[in-house]
Amino acid sequence: MTQTRPDTELTTAEQQYPLPPSLLGKSVYTDPDRYRRELTEIFHHAWFPVHPSSDVARPRDYVVWDQIGQSIVITRLPDGAVSAWHNVCQHRGARLVNGSGNCGNARFTCPWHGFVYGLDGVVASVPLRGSFDAAELDGLRAPAVRNQEWGGWIWLCLSDDVPPLLDYLGVIGEELSGYGLEGFTTKFRTSVRLTANWKIVVDGFNETWHVPFTHKDTLAGLVMWRDAILKITPPHSWMTLPIRGFTDKALRDGDHRASHLCHYLVFPNTIFSCFPTHLQMWSAWPISPGETLLTAYEVVGPPPDGMPADKWERHNRRDWDQFLEVLGEDAEVINGLATVIGSLGFRRNMFSTAESRLTAFHEEIAKRLGEGAPR
Ligand code: FES
Ligand SMILES: [Fe+2]
Repeated sequence: MTQTRPDTELTTAEQQYPLPPSLLGKSVYTDPDRYRRELTEIFHHAWFPVHPSSDVARPRDYVVWDQIGQSIVITRLPDGAVSAWHNVCQHRGARLVNGSGNCGNARFTCPWHGFVYGLDGVVASVPLRGSFDAAELDGLRAPAVRNQEWGGWIWLCLSDDVPPLLDYLGVIGEELSGYGLEGFTTKFRTSVRLTANWKIVVDGFNETWHVPFTHKDTLAGLVMWRDAILKITPPHSWMTLPIRGFTDKALRDGDHRASHLCHYLVFPNTIFSCFPTHLQMWSAWPISPGETLLTAYEVVGPPPDGMPADKWERHNRRDWDQFLEVLGEDAEVINGLATVIGSLGFRRNMFSTAESRLTAFHEEIAKRLGEGAPR
């Protein structure tokens, strides 16, 4: 269904909203078996930004990432590279590491029987070594996880059959690379537990037609929600959104990143919402068929030309406070869905052409699950 005609042949409305209306059956959000397949077929075959690089800035820094039923230790090695490995002892499966910090002796000792692991996850010493089968201990390590530092983030991928990160990101990577994110700083972060399927959460952020209702006192005055231009770039999607009082003053035909709010979905679950000088990034992490943890960050660039640092700090704080207010408005609606998801009156979603990004998102999921077109 993805649009293939050249832009020059499309009407303005088709360019703005590229896909026809679609329907989506309710079971997509509620079926526990489908949820399990989404974890293994989708989340185990994607790249995710999981932590700002600055969370492991110094050699021997570490942080543990616990999401989607996985626990992964991320460390900074003495040579500056990042290492990531499954947080599971290879003796009898104990959890090895908790929290974050700086590992002074560069060793992690299993709390159960004392197997010792290096910063790279390789087993460095084993108590009673002679009592084990030597061949099993040879080269033993906590299994490594693919990782890459890019755009100021540490990205992880749980599968070897996924293309390299920049190939996976495609046009989204080209777009994001224009912001100079390596020079940005993570200023604020939060996480919110929502009582909704992860796809309801992703859906909730990928269209603008709820803005004048859900966000009538916050975002509606800031973004020109009617004028979003949607772009379907499977598996991802994005949109440009004019900013009231800003975009109209920016140069015509200039770089949209310098004049618009550009909103990118990195499939399956991460959004980069980029203003010219700062961005909010958030991810929807499935907990169960009906629960999602949303993690969110405010990431800011250097002060715009001529702005004193303290004034830029105040702007950053104000932007984050506003983001939290908007997020609270979304959370109220999304959590409200949980109270009626079992209703006999809820059968399916209707997506309009203005919700083309949702149609494309669910088509991509259905394709990966081998389901054909969404129900
Ligand atoms: S489970 Fe780790 S040493 Fe036994
Ligand atoms: Fe919203």
